[in-house]
Amino acid sequence: MSTLITNIGELVTNAAPDDDPGQGPGPFAALTGAALVIDEGRVAWTGPAGQAPAADEAVDCRGGAVLPGFVDSHAHLVFAGERSAEFAARMAGTPYQAGGIRSTVAATRAAPDEVLRANLARLTREMLAQGTTTLECKSGYGLTVPDEARAVALAAEVTPEVTFLGAHVVPPEYEGDRAGYLDLVCGPMLTACAPHARWVDVFCERGAFDADEAAAVLAAGHAAGLLTRIHANQLGPGPGVQVAVTAGAASADHCTYLSDADVDALASSGPPSSGTVATLLPGVEFSTRQPYPDARRLLAAGVTVALATDCNPGSCFTSSMPLCVALAVREMRMTTQEAVWSATAGGARALRRSDVGHLSLGARADLMLLDGPSHTYLAYRPAVPLIRAVWQGGQMSRP
Ligand code: NIG
Ligand code: FE
Repeated sequence: MSTLITNIGELVTNAAPDDDPGQGPGPFAALTGAALVIDEGRVAWTGPAGQAPAADEAVDCRGGAVLPGFVDSHAHLVFAGERSAEFAARMAGTPYQAGGIRSTVAATRAAPDEVLRANLARLTREMLAQGTTTLECKSGYGLTVPDEARAVALAAEVTPEVTFLGAHVVPPEYEGDRAGYLDLVCGPMLTACAPHARWVDVFCERGAFDADEAAAVLAAGHAAGLLTRIHANQLGPGPGVQVAVTAGAASADHCTYLSDADVDALASSGPPSSGTVATLLPGVEFSTRQPYPDARRLLAAGVTVALATDCNPGSCFTSSMPLCVALAVREMRMTTQEAVWSATAGGARALRRSDVGHLSLGARADLMLLDGPSHTYLAYRPAVPLIRAVWQGGQMSRP
């Protein structure tokens, strides 16, 4: 079954220069007056609308823009309960602290599978309706062997990009025994979770895990066959980025407080396909009233930058990649092209995926149609529901 998507005002492809899907996304690239053909769930043709081949069915975009689906490379969706009172207190002046995570841990442990599954389904539906076609999902609100194993198994029902985050915080029952908790995370908990996960993550921050602890968690995960990523430099300067680069992590996430040495380490961590991406999460700064990360400094140094939501009930409860793009443009001074690239191709780099984040020939047919003629509308019309249709593996849905 083939589909011709035609009369596209602007087709953002992020296609690699030689259009080889195997090498993943290239730089920002777009065509005007374009068409695209999907065949067997893949991009089969792109080019000027007037030269498009015939297909089994056609969709007329009436001048709307078509972009690769968003790749949201950082989300915490397996949880129960909510923390709106904490948010309201924060807006009244109480600072965000890592300890708030424990209240979600208590609610999550107490919730039956069906409650967690329903919440996960609601949030993934929300994401798809806002153009997200690939998402990463972490555990981290269970913090016992069975609760973490349950979280990664539930996450694996909705995405292949599952991350084991047993090292989110030390749970209350291990308050006086950090070493005991780390042994649990790096031992039986990892053994139980690794079969359902692709990634291991650790919250490297004051109030969570220090550099040595974080490095030990990543090393144990790597030895168990998992790829590595990290929460780093969110609440203050710290060692997280250096731990990430030393471990060869695919991504260091947050990057709100970076030293020059951190920026240098990210910039020299390797080529985009194997280096460490800086994943910025501007919804967190919006929701915690922290300063935004310095995206221009990272981009000037040549660091690969991704944008993601960090959707979670504490530090940032948005599932909206369009909001993150708008914040990146308005608050972090990214250009509209940089922000859209980082929310699509950058996310793919952060997940070491070459098949998504771009619309080169042979890429997965993950795309969205906007109610607006160009990608700029995502930032130009903030908070307006602009997504008219989404294709995931070639399957169309309308929000
Ligand atoms: O990425 N930083 C650690 N974890 C989440 C927050 C989780 C929570 O507050 O519940 C984050 O911001
Ligand atoms: Fe997070």
